[in-house]
Amino acid sequence: MPSTLEEELARYPREPLTRTPTPLHHLAHASARLGVDLHLKRDDLTDLALGGDKPRKLEYEVARARAAGATVLVTCGSAQSNHARLTTAAARRVGLRATVVLSHDERRIFQGNLLTVYLMGADVRFAEIDDHWEIEDHAHRVCDELRSEGETPYYIPVSGSTPLSCLGYVRAGLELADQLAGSGLTPAAVYTPFGTGGIFSGMLTALRERGIDCPVIGISVNGDTARCRTNLDTWWTATSELLDRDPDRPRGATEIYDQFVGRAYGDATEACLDAILLMGETEGVLLDPVYSGKVFAGLCAHRHAGRWGADETVVMVHSGGTPALFAYAPELRAHLAKRGVDLP
Ligand SMILES: Cc1ncc(COP(=O)(O)O)c(C=O)c1O
Repeated sequence: MPSTLEEELARYPREPLTRTPTPLHHLAHASARLGVDLHLKRDDLTDLALGGDKPRKLEYEVARARAAGATVLVTCGSAQSNHARLTTAAARRVGLRATVVLSHDERRIFQGNLLTVYLMGADVRFAEIDDHWEIEDHAHRVCDELRSEGETPYYIPVSGSTPLSCLGYVRAGLELADQLAGSGLTPAAVYTPFGTGGIFSGMLTALRERGIDCPVIGISVNGDTARCRTNLDTWWTATSELLDRDPDRPRGATEIYDQFVGRAYGDATEACLDAILLMGETEGVLLDPVYSGKVFAGLCAHRHAGRWGADETVVMVHSGGTPALFAYAPELRAHLAKRGVDLP
């Protein structure tokens, strides 16, 4: 008898960082407005320092860091990195220090995520780099420096995505599959953000294992579709190995769209800002301009193009990121003003 995914997952140590399951909410008002049966997997409600996708990913990496005798978690990202916030929080939760290497980008304002890392006492280092991807090299140099000072750093890459951390989203996918079965729902599609692809790949693994064969749709927040597909291959293969699955087994229908990114990562596009307002006005749920707003913008565009009908169930994964809203106040304000809202 082949092992179940649950049995395979149980082989990997995990440091619990959040309560699960996160809720699967039916969005009655947004569904009525859009004309689709919309459900939201609320991973924005994981309970570590304002929530998001990272606690699930970090549970595996933090367990590994502790087993390796780490004294400090090191990671890197943009100035408004959610990952920096949640790595810092995870480190503090287990009694470690955190060093975060952040890019000196246009969102380097004392707001949102950046404010929170200072509140949790992170050692914050800004990297003067031309290319955002050079930041990882910079972070490795910081690790060397920490080592020479007698620390034992444990490095967690951008977005927290590693083969091991993808297991967090395999667990999330199993959780979602249970919730769908428990509610008697058969989804026509599951939408996730696609940054490095850890969420997408983990979810896909679990949904297919449970026989949920709808398209899994990734909305890129960053790279073009070809790069996303390459990342997906990498995570799919690596997690297959960890979970004793054949990497060449069928993956079913996957779609990845890169036209919602805008000019660059973090661009608060018109469609994204409209999607944030739509979700806020109909459901009282906050989305962010970098990840969840983009996913909802993609879903709305597909609906408006006639892709889904009122009797079709569509699930969207809300991966959090809402603290970044506060760093986008000028764009949000201008957008509300453009929509005729009288602002103070
Ligand atoms: C809120 C949020 N959602 C989604 C992602 C992207 O997840 P992945 O890199 O697993 O695609 C990130 C990555 O930093 C994030 O902060």
